[in-house]
Amino acid sequence: MPSPAPYYITTPIYYVNDRPHIGHCYTTTVADAAARAMRLIRGESRSTFLLTGTDEHADKVVTSAAAHNSTPQAWADKHADAFRAAFTSLNCGFDDFIRTTEPRHKDKVPGYISALLKTGDIYKGVYTGWYDAGQEEYLTETAAREANFKSPINGKPLVQRTEDCYFFKLGAYQERLLAHINANPHFIQPDARRQEVLGRLRQTLNDIPVSRPVTDDPATQWGVRMPGDPANRVYVWIDALFNYYTTVDTPERKHFWPAAVHLIGKDILWFHAVIWPALLMALNFPLPKMIFGHGWWVSEGQKMSKSLGNFIDLERMHAYADAFSLDGLRWYLLTQGPLSGQDADFSHAKFIEVYNADLANGIGNCASRVSNMIVKYFDGVVPTPGNAAALPDYDFKAICAKASVEYVAALDRFDIACAFNQASEIIRKVDGYINVTAPFKLAKTVEANPTAKQELAAILYTCAEAVRVASVLMAPAMPQKMAALWSTWNCTPGADTKLADLAAFGGPCALKPGSTVAKGDALFMRADPAAPIPGTIPAPSAPTV
Ligand code: MSP
Repeated sequence: MPSPAPYYITTPIYYVNDRPHIGHCYTTTVADAAARAMRLIRGESRSTFLLTGTDEHADKVVTSAAAHNSTPQAWADKHADAFRAAFTSLNCGFDDFIRTTEPRHKDKVPGYISALLKTGDIYKGVYTGWYDAGQEEYLTETAAREANFKSPINGKPLVQRTEDCYFFKLGAYQERLLAHINANPHFIQPDARRQEVLGRLRQTLNDIPVSRPVTDDPATQWGVRMPGDPANRVYVWIDALFNYYTTVDTPERKHFWPAAVHLIGKDILWFHAVIWPALLMALNFPLPKMIFGHGWWVSEGQKMSKSLGNFIDLERMHAYADAFSLDGLRWYLLTQGPLSGQDADFSHAKFIEVYNADLANGIGNCASRVSNMIVKYFDGVVPTPGNAAALPDYDFKAICAKASVEYVAALDRFDIACAFNQASEIIRKVDGYINVTAPFKLAKTVEANPTAKQELAAILYTCAEAVRVASVLMAPAMPQKMAALWSTWNCTPGADTKLADLAAFGGPCALKPGSTVAKGDALFMRADPAAPIPGTIPAPSAPTV
């Protein structure tokens, strides 16, 4: 059988001077769930590749390191480890973690820049701008005007300064970019982001500076040098964008390019949807298939801020995972996150509502209801499927088939929440079916009516098999909890089994009559909306008189 086309998904590489928070963890969790789902759909793990990593050549790394009596490299090492550990703690299974200070990245960047110098796409020119000598930095024309051409820090006049600089001929690619975006509606997603880029591309694109000078200031000595010109270094953003390519620019991984999806946040859309594709066009490299720019998380309706105390840092995320399980947290991020483009709210009340509805009262309760009845009425032995009364609204073979078709279609357009909601929909149907067929009432009649036992068997088999299918679809979001369910139900799928087989109701991976189902612990404990918010210090109790 021919192997499926490679699926390469990337996250942004994160600045090492920050500490991991919900923004970073969200993107990597979405990429992880998408990669798991792609592996499941293909029934093949090797053709899917998830890349995350860290962006380490920012000037801030040098200043932060100096402030902490460290070297830039040691500082970057420490923080890169923190990101890696954060993602591992959230069960994100990346295939590689690229760091821009690694030789396998930084030694390749000059090669691409040299190629662009050769074609003339990168050329040496002169940069003129408003310079704040006290801060040793340029201000944009707008910022300079707003500050009345005075330093916003020390009030001294800004000076017009000129220096040698390398430029990339971005302007030369404007028409080709427009044509590509127009011909490929999925290239930039969601649609609002696509419109945003198209709108900006209606104005003339200027060439952009892609180097920074190296001076006596140690901060300027950090980074990748321009080939053949050590007095200049590659601008950190250009260096960073190449990570997506350097990681797979090896004989073993070359087939992963072009990437299927670059998953990013909306604030870094321009770099990914315009500058990066133009660089690739100039190099004659194929373009990624999709740039997906998600919205941002806010917290309790407001922009996250440390001073407001509403910041969702890694510690707060771990506190939620401790209280509601890691998969409970993953489910909230994946189904309620800002993927569609709108910003999303991490609100405690909403978290509890979704957790209780989808998980504690949803799959968790449904699975235990069904297994408890199999234990009670059939001694825990999966009963033989038979002809349960045909109820047109509860044709589970058709319901499951439709859910998996929609699951695949939703993942293709990167609508992760819609994909996972297909599984919740199956669970709602099973709950409805139990209410309509009332197996607990039927069980009371089996002694007087022998056919009732067969009917009970058929109903419970149907419920269990539908829950199994839902659990398969939910597994990329909640790998641990679904594995726990499969283990008590003795239906752990074999490695590399295809979704088409796994999610077919009554198909090749169906529950086997005669196998055993144990009661097991509740998958998700019900959450008490009045309990203290995880990660917050409880208010002192009122003094007793
Ligand atoms: N280093 C660059 C990316 C280079 S990619 C070649 C960078 N790093 S970052 O660490 O500042 O941000 C990484 C990502 O975090 C961005 O995609 C950004 O959108 C995302 N988020 C930061 N705060 C966020 C939220 N509050 N919510 C969701 N994502 C947010 O930019």
